[in-house]
Amino acid sequence: RARHDDSRAPLYAALEAADQWYRTQLAQQPQAIDYLKQRGLDGETAKRFGLGYAPAGWSGLLTALSAHHPREHLEQAGLLARKNDSVYDRFRDRIMFPIRDSRGRTIGFGGRVLGDGTPKYLNSSETALFHKGRELYGLFEARQSRAPLDTILIVEGYMDVIGLAQSGIVNAVATLGTATTREHLQRLFRVVDRLVFCFDGDRAGRQAAWRALEHALPVMTDGREAAFLFLPDGEDPDSFIRRHGKEAFAQRQQHATALSRFLLDELSQRHTGNSMEARAALLKEAGMPLRELDPGALKNQIIDAIALETRMSPERVTQALRRASTPAT
Ligand code: CTP
Ligand code: MN
Ligand code: MN
Ligand code: MN
Ligand code: MN
Repeated sequence: RARHDDSRAPLYAALEAADQWYRTQLAQQPQAIDYLKQRGLDGETAKRFGLGYAPAGWSGLLTALSAHHPREHLEQAGLLARKNDSVYDRFRDRIMFPIRDSRGRTIGFGGRVLGDGTPKYLNSSETALFHKGRELYGLFEARQSRAPLDTILIVEGYMDVIGLAQSGIVNAVATLGTATTREHLQRLFRVVDRLVFCFDGDRAGRQAAWRALEHALPVMTDGREAAFLFLPDGEDPDSFIRRHGKEAFAQRQQHATALSRFLLDELSQRHTGNSMEARAALLKEAGMPLRELDPGALKNQIIDAIALETRMSPERVTQALRRASTPAT
């Protein structure tokens, strides 16, 4: 254990030094500050999220930090890239978003180009400290806020978390360019009992919501809630709140679709018609996700609702679900 921590300590130190250095660079780069201003952020928000700037050039960070941090540590911390025998700064000419762990230590970065370059975002590679499938951007900052958290919003991107915070909605977190995993959800349900997922209102958004539902069902014990907030097509939380304001966003949140409602709506939309075949198909599709749901009051109500929809008795539905979820032999 001690040895394990010893090998990590210099990586945390390197990331902390990089964090500070990027912030210093931001203060000296008017163009980067203008970019953030033009996106509606003020200094307080930039500070809250520790935003910085990685200058153009191949070795600014390497040169500045290597006096106190050996190259290998900078490299293991994900700050450098390597081509053959030469190493150089991984992040160049980008707005830097430090990604913090639950204790507030920087474990990686996201970097955004100032204009239209590609890739739009570059994230730290996986390191000993940074695992994309586990981390949630903004969770540390959300827990830092004064108001006690009862709900956490799950959004798609860095700027969604930050744009919402700028408008006073400080309970949003984002996955890091990956789908939400069960591990993410388990982690969040240890902090709050209610999660609200934000998605685009288009087809891709509904598909993403269904995948989120599949990952949420196994961790949905009674007492926990999950809901889905759909935005108009083409808008993300950051653009929505900038265009329509905090009240409009809050209203959408109030009318978020409960997980159970979304499940039932999706199932009946996918299997329309009154034929016995359509009802059987609906039951079959319900089987897989529902198998994952803990037995309890929520599950019973969903079964009752499916029974109404398919005009079968709850006992029959339970029986059919059991069959649908048993792998064929
Ligand atoms: N993402 C990524 N790599 C990319 C594009 C996106 O890792 N090349 C991830 C980032 O975490 C990003 C999220 O996916 O925040 C959502 O992507 P997108 O909606 O395209 O970006 P926005 O967050 O809306 O960025 P912006 O508002 O700055 O354009
Ligand atoms: Mn979309
Ligand atoms: Mn999956
Ligand atoms: Mn955006
Ligand atoms: Mn977006």
